[in-house]
Amino acid sequence: SFNVKGRHLLTLKDYSPEEIRFLVRMAEKLKADKYAGIFAENLKHKNIALIFEKTSTRTRCAFVVAAVDEGAHPEFLGKNDIQLGKKESVADTARVLGRMFDGIQFRGFSHSTVETLAEYAGVPVWNGLTDKYHPTQVLADLLTIREQLGRLKGVRLAYIGDGRNNMANSLMIGAAKMGMDFRIGAPASLFPEQSLVDEMKVVSRETGGKILLTEDPREAVAQADVIYTDVWVSMGEESEFETRIKVLKPYQVNKKLLDSTGNAETIFLHCLPAFHDRNTLVGEEIYQKYGLDAMEVTDDVILSPASRVWDQAENRVHTIKAVMVATLGK
Ligand code: CP
Ligand code: NVA
Repeated sequence: SFNVKGRHLLTLKDYSPEEIRFLVRMAEKLKADKYAGIFAENLKHKNIALIFEKTSTRTRCAFVVAAVDEGAHPEFLGKNDIQLGKKESVADTARVLGRMFDGIQFRGFSHSTVETLAEYAGVPVWNGLTDKYHPTQVLADLLTIREQLGRLKGVRLAYIGDGRNNMANSLMIGAAKMGMDFRIGAPASLFPEQSLVDEMKVVSRETGGKILLTEDPREAVAQADVIYTDVWVSMGEESEFETRIKVLKPYQVNKKLLDSTGNAETIFLHCLPAFHDRNTLVGEEIYQKYGLDAMEVTDDVILSPASRVWDQAENRVHTIKAVMVATLGK
């Protein structure tokens, strides 16, 4: 059965393909209900703690909106608001918050922090992004792909760029579990950890999926149903900025790469935030210093009809709601 009540969500590795499909379908149902004005208040009288060591637009807002839609009370706890790891151990914070709240979201640096919270909280803990994984994002991505293509199994998903970050790891896990044809186009220095690749190849063999790593972005996107990219420099890696620009420049997702897939229906996804706009502080700096007018994606892709990034961002609400309702709801 697909009862995930009381479970944590730290990485999709811990969820079976059936459980992941169950969450995506529940999200579809909750989305349709919301559009129809139906709110079942599945989380009435629940209190949800939202701990953020790093900044966030989508994840924070999706948790707040989803919680309120379901009748719960969300409480935002920023890095300067609580003692976490500084004046108080992570374990003690978990013990205390677990006595007051019914569920805890954590976004931050070290994956071991969210593991410690989960170990001591006694209530479900959800990973809203760590250095290693971003599972709630991938649930939204799976929902978006299912909505757009009508299926997940066999879909060719090409991830281009930093192949070692939280998104690359989590997409590989989600794709393997769903039997997708997953490709990473990245410089070899940014290929994912071999142990994770080996682990997911075993999963792929069971689900009928495939995993290909290549340094050639064109090979990666050939006949792709979906091209996916993420920032070249993740939160917490700011010191890598120059090296990343140099090594990832050939991996920019631009119109030329999109047009090279050989599939007129290829869609584009990005978890966001995206560096494509030179009218931002970072954009202006890059434009002047490196002669680049965009980083990982250009305007003529992310703002083109092929792009589904706004649907994808909206789907954070519906999938995060499904995670909270499935693990905590009545
Ligand atoms: N995609 C995502 O997690 O966005 P935020 O960093 O804004 O939450
Ligand atoms: N890889 C990015 C994802 C942001 C949602 C980061 O960790 O900053």
